[in-house]
Formats: sequence, structure tokens, C-alpha cells
Amino acid sequence: MLSIVVIGAAWAVLRHPAAVPPKEITVLSTPERIERGQYLFEHLSDCSGCHSDRDFSRLGGPVKPGGIGVGMVMPDEMGLPGVVVAPNITPDPETGLGKWTDGEIIRAIREGVDRDGNALFPFMPYQHFRHMSDEDVEALVAYMRKLTPVRHPLPRTELALPVALMIKSAPQPVTGEVKSPSRSDGLAYGKYLVEIAGCAGCHTVQEHGQPVASMEFAGGFEFRMPQGTVLSSNITPDVETGIGSWTEDGFVSRFRQYSEYAEGGGSPVSAETFTLMPWLAYSKLTDEDLRVIYEYLRTVKPVSHKVQTHPGAAAPQR
Ligand code: HEC
Ligand code: HEC
Repeated sequence: MLSIVVIGAAWAVLRHPAAVPPKEITVLSTPERIERGQYLFEHLSDCSGCHSDRDFSRLGGPVKPGGIGVGMVMPDEMGLPGVVVAPNITPDPETGLGKWTDGEIIRAIREGVDRDGNALFPFMPYQHFRHMSDEDVEALVAYMRKLTPVRHPLPRTELALPVALMIKSAPQPVTGEVKSPSRSDGLAYGKYLVEIAGCAGCHTVQEHGQPVASMEFAGGFEFRMPQGTVLSSNITPDVETGIGSWTEDGFVSRFRQYSEYAEGGGSPVSAETFTLMPWLAYSKLTDEDLRVIYEYLRTVKPVSHKVQTHPGAAAPQR
């Protein structure tokens, strides 16, 4: 009996995540790809939001000058199971991705396996990014190779037990060709964008580290940061508690509100204005993309779930 427990424990510690060798691929860099990659990195998939040095004391948490891609240690306040570090992903050879092959970078993004074959903590949203098309993930790599290499040593993630063992089952290989739906199919394309933006990851509450399926997009996920606490909103089409009464134009203009802050950042944040919703990044999404995102969100299951997004704020919420 004991030996079975011991073998089981040894297996959990020693086993490797499901991983296939990285693709042998050299991404062709074109101006179109770099531009698309920048759109994904800085806006739609907001890689920059976690992998940059940001000023959270100001509205929207703008990226500090020279801070793009240099990585960040997640603050203790977030209550993550251990020390979680979004690594430096600039092309610096010592402290960034300079020595990684294109295939290794693609595997990390979509399959959650690092260069040494270790599972990445799924706080890095690879379970959503696995749906990213070959074309889009290659565009990302083309852009990331053009980032200014910054020498910025950071510690590696150190997860507490048992999470460190549990995450080994999170990575899954992506096999075969991955295509994005045609832009002419608005609903399918909107669903694709919502997936690779990872909206569900922030807008769905979790139990034991797993999203609660019946609460998808219904909000209530709590983020604690040194600057304050914020909960994600209900973005299902429920009329009373979600965004069911929002018009398409209203939805688009809500995102546009922040575009003037996108470059320099806004005023200092207060408990009422502190948020982790990537408003600055998203304020530069194209009209076309915001409209299909809206269109898709109209079709998800409405969930009645009232969320007070700023529990620490003295002023009543709208
Ligand atoms: C919600 C935060 C978050 C977002 C958004 C995010 N990442 Fe990550 N990423 C992380 C964290 C945290 C890790 C490290 C996980 C670990 O160490 O287990 C990571 C790891 C990585 C790695 C592996 C690097 C290494 O040294 O092992 C790469 C490459 C990467 N991310 C690229 C991206 C790209 C490209 C995007 C956008 C498409 C992105 N990330 C979006 C948080 C994020
Ligand atoms: C990093 C976490 C995060 C991600 C990713 C994220 N959100 Fe949010 N979102 C929040 C939080 C927190 C709030 C509540 C605070 C606020 O309004 O700023 C919010 C608020 C919103 C609101 C305002 C709702 C209201 O009632 O005022 C909308 C609309 C929204 N999100 C849509 C989206 C969409 C669409 C995506 C994906 C393209 C997305 N969010 C991705 C965290 C996130």
C-alpha cells in the first residue's frame, strides 16, 4: 500500500507535462506580420499587460518608458499560490528569449511548455492562446523579435505544493494546422477574438483554480493589488446585471473612452478608478474587431449575477 503511495507521489513529481518537440520553423518576418504582431501583443491579447513594467498608480496602468516586454513579478496581494513571475520576453539573450527558437516561443505561447520542457503556470493564458491561428502566433513572434532587447534579470516562478504538481496536466500539444475563421463570418471571428484576448479568463469566477462553467463571462473574479481591489463585471447579455441593455455603439464608445490615456496614462488612480481591465490596450482595438466582439458576446448564455466591481469605493456604483 505504502509503495503505491510512494510511487504515485514520485510519478507526480517526476512526470513531464504532455509536450511535443517544438516546431522546426523559421518565422518569415514581413512588415504586415510585424504590424499584426504588435496589434496582438500590445492590444488584443495584451501580452504587454503582464510582461511589462507598468505604472499601476495611474489610471489604466500604463507601461513605463522602456518597460515593454521586460517582465514583472506578480504582487503578493494577488494571493497567487507562490511567487509568480511573468518573464522577460524581449530578445535579450541572457535574461529574455534571445536564445529561444521560433518554435520554442510558439510552443510556450500556445501549449504552455517552457524551453526546458517544464509546464508553465496557466495564469499565463495558454489555454486560451492554444486557439490562436498559426498565422497570428507567427505574427507575434515576428513582432517580439523586433522588441528592444532589455537586460532585466528576474527570478523564475516558484509555485507552492500541490499546485506545482497539479499544473503538469495543464499543457496540451497543439497538433495540425490552426486557422482563424474568416472575418466575413462576424460571429465566428468575434468568438475567435474573445478567445485569444482571454476575456473569459478574467470574467469568469474560479473554484479550485478552475473556471466555473455555468458562470462563464458572468464576472465576479476578484483581483487584489497594492492599489486596490477590483472585481470583473458581468459581460453576459443579462439585461439587469450584465451588458444586455448596451447598444453596439455604446459598447464601442465605452472602449474608446480610454484612448486619450493610452499613450501617457491618466491621472493617479483612486479606489473607484483602479482597474485591471486592459482599457488602455483595448482602446486601440479596431471598430471592426470591437463590433464582432460585441456581436459574439450577445450570443453567450445570459447569467443573472450582480457584481460590485469596486467594493472598496465609498461612492455608490452606477
Ligand atoms: C495574465 C498574464 C499573462 C498574459 C496576458 C500573458 N502572459 Fe506570458 N506568461 C505569464 C506568466 C506568469 C508566465 C510564467 C509562467 C511560469 O513561470 O510558470 C508567462 C510565460 C510566458 C512565456 C515563457 C517564457 C519563459 O521564460 O519561460 C512566453 C514566451 C510568454 N509568456 C509569452 C506571452 C505572449 C506572447 C503573450 C500574449 C499572446 C503572453 N505571454 C500573455 C503571464 C502572462
Ligand atoms: C486582466 C483581466 C481582464 C481581461 C483580460 C478582460 N477584462 Fe473586462 N473587466 C475586467 C475588470 C476587473 C472589470 C471591472 C472594472 C472596470 O470596469 O474597469 C472589467 C470590465 C469590463 C467591462 C465593463 C462592464 C461594465 O458593466 O461597465 C466590459 C464591457 C468588459 N470588461 C469587456 C471585456 C472584454 C470584451 C474582454 C476581452 C476582449 C475583457 N473585458 C477582458 C477585467 C478584465
